[in-house]
Amino acid sequence: MPSFACWSLPITLLALLCCPGSGEKAFEVYIWSEKQVVEAWESWKVNCSTNCENPKVGGLETTMNKTVLEEHPQGKWKQFLVSNTTNDTKLICHFTCAEQQLSEHLNITVFQRPAQVTLRLQPPRVIVGEAFTIECTALAVKPLESLTLTLLRGRETLQNQTFGGTEREAMVRLNSTALTKEGHNFSCQAELDLRPHGGYVIRSISESQILEVFEPMQDNQMVIIMVVVSILLFLFVTSVLLCFILGQHWHRRRTGTYGVLAAWRRLPRAFRQRPM
Ligand SMILES: *[C@@H]1O[C@H](CO)[C@@H](O)[C@H](O)[C@H]1NC(C)=O
Ligand SMILES: *[C@@H]1O[C@H](CO)[C@@H](O)[C@H](O)[C@H]1NC(C)=O
Ligand SMILES: *[C@@H]1O[C@H](CO)[C@@H](O)[C@H](O)[C@H]1NC(C)=O
Ligand SMILES: *[C@@H]1O[C@H](CO)[C@@H](O)[C@H](O)[C@H]1NC(C)=O
Ligand SMILES: *[C@@H]1O[C@H](CO)[C@@H](O)[C@H](O)[C@H]1NC(C)=O
Ligand SMILES: *[C@@H]1O[C@H](CO)[C@@H](O)[C@H](O)[C@H]1NC(C)=O
Ligand SMILES: *[C@@H]1O[C@H](CO)[C@@H](O)[C@H](O)[C@H]1NC(C)=O
Ligand SMILES: *[C@@H]1O[C@H](CO)[C@@H](O)[C@H](O)[C@H]1NC(C)=O
Repeated sequence: MPSFACWSLPITLLALLCCPGSGEKAFEVYIWSEKQVVEAWESWKVNCSTNCENPKVGGLETTMNKTVLEEHPQGKWKQFLVSNTTNDTKLICHFTCAEQQLSEHLNITVFQRPAQVTLRLQPPRVIVGEAFTIECTALAVKPLESLTLTLLRGRETLQNQTFGGTEREAMVRLNSTALTKEGHNFSCQAELDLRPHGGYVIRSISESQILEVFEPMQDNQMVIIMVVVSILLFLFVTSVLLCFILGQHWHRRRTGTYGVLAAWRRLPRAFRQRPM
């Protein structure tokens, strides 16, 4: 009696598992996908299959475009090419065998790599001790909650931010002060970590930007030099002009004197001596 109980339990369980509802569900449906993490607008293969010997209908349900690539003559499997995804989606394979329909689903994660990572320094040139802002944006990245943006100075991490998935765009900003003249080579790294979705890590780095930092002294010297040069130039131009004007004036006076002298000489001697 105890041995019968021991045997009957697993048998009942087995019957329940493989043939519930009076043994009609005696088949299974499988879904195989070439990829579970798919890049936007990519195409990939999906195979729907069953162990049912003679399935009536079978196929793949999806909101995306699909085409049948290959098919088993008895309809035991169908291979599809699924294309043009832009959003996360669910694939459903279904088969009907002996008046019963079964389905199996698979979730597909769509990603968009960080292709456009832009770093901006505002303002791009400062005086030592002045504040500036470093701003990095990554456009059209999916899924946003897998993205981390890191601001770098050389190889040193200044700040990183992982996104919540609710932001409209990925941006990280940092206010800083230029304390020295050197070492202001900045860049921004975008890291899309698809490992939780069964993928890998995709990294992308922005073009580096160099902050121009000036000494305040140097700026003053520059101003002084410019003022001195302007004054010298002014003096030079003025003296040239003055020389020219004086020269003209002197020339006219000389000719004027000759005129007076000639007139004087033309005067009769008596008149000439009168004013003496
Ligand atoms: C689809 O899957 C079935 C079952 O695993 C397999 O027998 C069949 O060869 C596959 N078809 C293709 C085209 O790979
Ligand atoms: C499916 O493909 C057709 C053209 O082949 C296109 O017009 C349609 O927008 C596509 N649908 C989706 C969801 O990509
Ligand atoms: C891909 O989908 C977009 C809309 O999402 C559609 O405009 C385009 O025609 C589709 N391309 C193909 C080749 O199906
Ligand atoms: C993808 O999802 C966004 C919102 O998350 C929606 O605006 C857009 O229409 C969806 N695109 C497709 C092709 O379903
Ligand atoms: C697919 O996603 C849905 C939610 O959208 C979730 O309930 C389900 O468990 C997921 N399936 C698998 C196989 O991960
Ligand atoms: C972000 O920065 C913290 C330290 O501030 C560091 O522990 C963490 O590993 C960084 N994350 C990434 C993804 O680089
Ligand atoms: C950075 O400075 C600007 C003003 O220049 C201010 O509006 C902003 O809140 C600051 N951001 C941070 C993160 O401190
Ligand atoms: C700035 O750093 C990048 C890499 O970190 C390097 O390729 C580039 O040559 C550096 N630029 C200067 C002017 O040092």
